[in-house]
Amino acid sequence: MGRLPFIAGNWKLNKTVEEAVDLVRQLKASISGVKDVEVAVAPSFTALYAVYKELEGSSIHLAAQNLFWEEKGAYTGEVSPLMLKEVGCQYVIIGHSERRQFFGETDETVNRRMKAALGQGLKPIFCMGETLKEREEGNTFSLIERQLKGGLRDLGEMEFKSIVIAYEPVWAIGTGKTATPQQAEEVPRFIRERLERVYSRQFAEEVRIQYGGSVTPENIKGLMSQTNIDGALVGGASLKSETFSKIVRFKEM
Ligand code: 13P
Repeated sequence: MGRLPFIAGNWKLNKTVEEAVDLVRQLKASISGVKDVEVAVAPSFTALYAVYKELEGSSIHLAAQNLFWEEKGAYTGEVSPLMLKEVGCQYVIIGHSERRQFFGETDETVNRRMKAALGQGLKPIFCMGETLKEREEGNTFSLIERQLKGGLRDLGEMEFKSIVIAYEPVWAIGTGKTATPQQAEEVPRFIRERLERVYSRQFAEEVRIQYGGSVTPENIKGLMSQTNIDGALVGGASLKSETFSKIVRFKEM
């Protein structure tokens, strides 16, 4: 059984509405005709609706970079799952390391967001990954296990099929230091083993696991050749259609 490759661009805090629309317009042209690869882009909140309009009729999916778990109420500055659905999102990135590092995200809040997203039919791109210190101290696998269990706590089996996992070693994000394909493969393999042991064999086999951290047109092929890597969550290289489309077209290299 094959897992459909999934390449997503996380634009982070970049692009005005005009720039965002311009980028997806170019992207539609540069990846037209690509088959058997699912593609998504995650613009900032302000650009979601305009990008959604520009993407209508194309196969590129829309993702948000975060969400809040409540539906509505006195939560100044937050955005709800329903609001994201309304502007055309199918996916939402949850628990990105930058949110964990800079905005106090914990396994518990990640879990609340996961439940809220799934409750509205949004598909989570559930992120996890170790810092350099955690790696050097030999804590990578225990950390991954904690993040995995924390984020999936109390979810029903029915919900597993909507989840995508993104393994992003923090030391590889935005640093130009990509993990070698072998290093990048270790953790997704471990994740699948744990999922099979703790949850179900079907979940372990079917869940798509992306790698993220300095993915480029030069290294995508080696990463995608690994058994347990099914895609990429791309930061910097997703900001230009030229580089992102090359990554999407990895099969042609
Ligand atoms: P870079 O590709 O810029 O390293 O970012 C990776 C990332 O954090 C994607 O979510």
